[in-house]
Amino acid sequence: MENLFFTIFDGLPRQGPGDNASTRKAFYSLPAFSQQANILDIGCGTGIQTLELARLSPCQILALDNHEPYLRDLKIRAREENLDKKISTILGDMHNLPFSEAEFDLIWSEGSIYIIGFEKGLREWRKYLKPGGSLVVTELIWTSLNPPDKAREFWEIEYPAMQSDPFCKNAISRSGFTLIRDFLLPKEAWWEQYYQPLSKRVVQMKKNYAASEPMIELLHDVETEIKIYTEFNSHFGYAFYIMKKSD
Ligand SMILES: C[S@@+](CC[C@H](N)C(=O)[O-])C[C@H]1O[C@@H](n2cnc3c(N)ncnc32)[C@H](O)[C@@H]1O
Repeated sequence: MENLFFTIFDGLPRQGPGDNASTRKAFYSLPAFSQQANILDIGCGTGIQTLELARLSPCQILALDNHEPYLRDLKIRAREENLDKKISTILGDMHNLPFSEAEFDLIWSEGSIYIIGFEKGLREWRKYLKPGGSLVVTELIWTSLNPPDKAREFWEIEYPAMQSDPFCKNAISRSGFTLIRDFLLPKEAWWEQYYQPLSKRVVQMKKNYAASEPMIELLHDVETEIKIYTEFNSHFGYAFYIMKKSD
């Protein structure tokens, strides 16, 4: 099933909602860095945000993912843009990071912390930050108190741990961080960068994989997610949380 999943997503511009304008907005909310600062990008995927961070800053960025083909894509793009001196990649597991304590000035993770769990990720990754270091993540959250049944039932299966904004903000402070800024990703970050290319891919794959029952089932799930977003997007969203390690 995992291979089928990657067959759908390989080669797409992003593997989750997001856009460069939001990456920039989050980055410019951070305190100034020294030129020697180092950044860890966890669950980087094909690294659209890694490349944007490299355009924005002179810092060294280490991009980590557990899917090697994504890292290969990122390396090619970094070379094409002459950003390869600033970006290195590492194949690794976010549950078991191969780093020493206090190695990084900034940890960045767009669309990936849900894999380890929001609060668990905050607590575990905190130790890899230098004193006063920053953590920036995006997380899918409920934005209304009473989401319609259809949306609730869908996300209860796809992301049962999904929480509200107040819950996430409490988790941030009880995990040893101070929130600097937060905002929701705009609609374009869902559509133009993510669901539009994904919808085109689904149409093409339905033709190519018409005989594969598991693939057709998976494509149906993707279509359902897009439909749920279209109908109920005022009830959930992707939040950017920009925070600083507390003393
Ligand atoms: C939703 S995608 C986000 C990718 C990218 N940051 C973006 O916004 O387009 C989640 C990423 O986490 C990676 N991933 C999944 N499990 C992982 C793990 N245990 N350790 C490291 N990366 C993982 C996936 O390969 C995928 O690239």
